[in-house]
Amino acid sequence: MDKAALSTTARSLVAKGKGILAADESTPTIKKRFDSIQVESTAENRGAYRELLFTTAGVEEFISGVILFEETLRQTASDGTAFPRLLADRGIIPGIKVDMGAKPMAGFPGEKITEGLDGLRERLSTYRELGARFAKWRAVITIAHALPTPANILANAHALARYAALCQEAGLVPIVEPEVLMDGAHTIERCDTVTARTLQSVFEELFRFQVALEGILLKPNMVISGLDCPVQADVEEVARRTVACFQKVVPAAVPGVVFLSGGQSARIATAHLNAMNALGDQPWELSFSYGRALQEDPLKTWRGDAAHTQAAQQAFYHRAQCNGAARYGEYSEAMENAVT
Ligand code: 13P
Repeated sequence: MDKAALSTTARSLVAKGKGILAADESTPTIKKRFDSIQVESTAENRGAYRELLFTTAGVEEFISGVILFEETLRQTASDGTAFPRLLADRGIIPGIKVDMGAKPMAGFPGEKITEGLDGLRERLSTYRELGARFAKWRAVITIAHALPTPANILANAHALARYAALCQEAGLVPIVEPEVLMDGAHTIERCDTVTARTLQSVFEELFRFQVALEGILLKPNMVISGLDCPVQADVEEVARRTVACFQKVVPAAVPGVVFLSGGQSARIATAHLNAMNALGDQPWELSFSYGRALQEDPLKTWRGDAAHTQAAQQAFYHRAQCNGAARYGEYSEAMENAVT
């Protein structure tokens, strides 16, 4: 394992002012996104949409890397350039989603375990040849009355650690994503407890499997009120609790924390990241790896019409720029209003 190379890649992904675009929606997920704008989910339309995002002028100032779905890793832009090459030529690091999805966990109703370890070593070597330099694996933890169970947290943490070890062996930086879902009526306190317990278990397994922490990135949820909780914590409280939770359970050797947006609106996701960075320096970079929070606006603007490409690229650039400012704690409402 080349620890120095892994650490260099991980640090580049959380370079100052930059973060990651998650554009790795699986075929069923991108179909849902396209259904919402009444666009048919064909390979051609998926390629055109992703080309629009990846060719947005100037976005490399704020976007350090892009997570791709396997189909996109193998697709080419309209000028025949392979997408990983197109990104790398712009100084954007190509990454790849490698899990095979979260499936119902046998014997544990309401809980999921992420699959995809079998044959992963071989797939990782192919992905590296195709240009990927980092990977992502998402585990899902559900909060409900008696959930999550210790067995579910352990099974997911174990799988994340085995995935991370395989990635490092293959020379890919693993993004370790244990997502505690926002769904439910639970309070922010409950999210705090479950997030801390989950992260503690994840780092215990990473340690057990000898994963080099300086060569990973953590992609967690923020500590936030459940979507249906009658009392919603404000931006300052989310920032304060999230940072305090991580100070207790995320080792300082981890170069960066790249948050998922998880269903937060685009502006709130930016405001939360901004408020955390405004709290001052932490042992790790606090950055973003947003899917919906970066793509919602460009997707709605595009609506499958090539005539809207430029406007959609402007919308994408704007969100990337706002999140770039949030990396320094310098985002403000005024930045939103400045857009025409
Ligand atoms: P969201 O930001 O839409 O949650 O997506 C991030 C992601 O990559 C989830 O795995």
